Amino acid sequence: YSNHHDSSKQIDNNNKDVDPLLTIRDEFNIDTEKFKAIVNGFNEECEHGLNATSASGLATMIPSYVTRMPTGQEKGTFLALDLGGSNLRVSAVDLLGDGQVHVVTEIRRTVSDEQRIGSTTDFFDWMADSVKELLDNLSPHYHHQQQEDIVLVNGKHNQKQQSVAMGVCWSFPLDQTGICDGKILRMGKGFTLDNIDGQDLANLFHDAFQRKDINVTVTALLNDTVGTLVAHAYSNPGACVGFIHGTGVNAAYPEKQSRIVKKGDDSENDNIMLVNTEIDIFGNPDYLPLTRFDKALDAHHSQPGFQAYEKMMAGGYLGELVRLIAIELITDDQYLFNGNIPERLKKPWSFTTATMSNLEKVETDEEKLAIFGEWLETDCINDYVPTIEDMIRLSHICCIVSSRAAVLVAAGIAAMIERQNVIITSDDPIIIGVNGSTFEKYPNMQQRVNEALRRYFGDIIFQRIRLGVARDGGSIGGALVAMLYSQSANDKW
Ligand code: GLC
Repeated sequence: YSNHHDSSKQIDNNNKDVDPLLTIRDEFNIDTEKFKAIVNGFNEECEHGLNATSASGLATMIPSYVTRMPTGQEKGTFLALDLGGSNLRVSAVDLLGDGQVHVVTEIRRTVSDEQRIGSTTDFFDWMADSVKELLDNLSPHYHHQQQEDIVLVNGKHNQKQQSVAMGVCWSFPLDQTGICDGKILRMGKGFTLDNIDGQDLANLFHDAFQRKDINVTVTALLNDTVGTLVAHAYSNPGACVGFIHGTGVNAAYPEKQSRIVKKGDDSENDNIMLVNTEIDIFGNPDYLPLTRFDKALDAHHSQPGFQAYEKMMAGGYLGELVRLIAIELITDDQYLFNGNIPERLKKPWSFTTATMSNLEKVETDEEKLAIFGEWLETDCINDYVPTIEDMIRLSHICCIVSSRAAVLVAAGIAAMIERQNVIITSDDPIIIGVNGSTFEKYPNMQQRVNEALRRYFGDIIFQRIRLGVARDGGSIGGALVAMLYSQSANDKW
């Protein structure tokens, strides 16, 4: 952000001896040395997690039990349920072969704040209602010739009374012991459902389906990173990293089973299994350059000390970092709004990443003023009317925070690439599927991530890196894994 540097200086010359934003910019800067330290730190945490045999390492480097990648030729219609940080999505997905996919129909629901902290039974009943609605929508559509295309638990075609296979994409950590066996670990993203930790996820769904008289069987449980990687591989064979940068962050990659020591008894097995790293939780302060703002955010978060990396760079947090910086600059330096703190800005979490993104997106300062005015919900702060210069400064703060986020995304991706040594030594393209609204929608995010990867790897390796947006990772990945594993689930249920 060298432009930003120059214009900050101009502001500085008009007003003060030292621009306070320059200090903050330096604190948020991740130079090559720090970047390398982060990548190394991530790699060490990966090793530790793979080898941990006790509860200490349980929540990271989780085996997914997905040992097959799609070829792109798989066909059939499958159900998928995808629970993210803010949305529930239930869909029927047609896998058409040749890497082509068609989402036949889907139901989307927003998870309310009350639901996140409410009863587990109510929450699963609510999800089951959406599955029922989907099936109801689907029947007329599939009534005639297509009905038989819905693939069932046993992989055979539909006959009445048989159960429909569904893949569940769960954007939270799960302690998996099988493709369909997983116990719920601490959820994050504001979810504190009653007594949910340690419960068997598939059972919770099956109980709810029984209460609602729904004939659906969960045949696969997968993290959203695994879904993203599998979905991306369906249309981009050879994809080797699934990365999420949305409300949260996380990554999955294929690891040799012999190296997943915590899983046990596979010391000779060189076949791969996808691993959900839960890189979000990584973040030893020895290598992760936490600023005082990161520490302040963590201190007032409902789950302090959890998900250090995620809190520095994911969509759930960027707005709050900007808010904390702005408050300090207003209080100590009268840097914005002539020293007046807007009422709304006093409220933790009030300034969202979506607002930041809108401010960075629009081109003119007048448009920024209009966006900010809408957010502020009033024309003036005490008696002060925000100016164009305030907007330039506020956008600079947004740019500092979002630029660091991009560099941190690149560090996570770089670690996933380095773990797969073979990729660095061959000439093949390094195909990475990224899913998540922050990566997809935040202005310039993708370019900034690419730029940071180029700086770190150099032109020659960078030319082989193909960062692609993997849309619908949850539903397509859920459908694919449900398909790849529908037979084994039938054995169990
Ligand atoms: C959170 C969850 C993780 C998920 C990620 C991205 O960090 O712990 O399981 O993959 O968000 O959605």
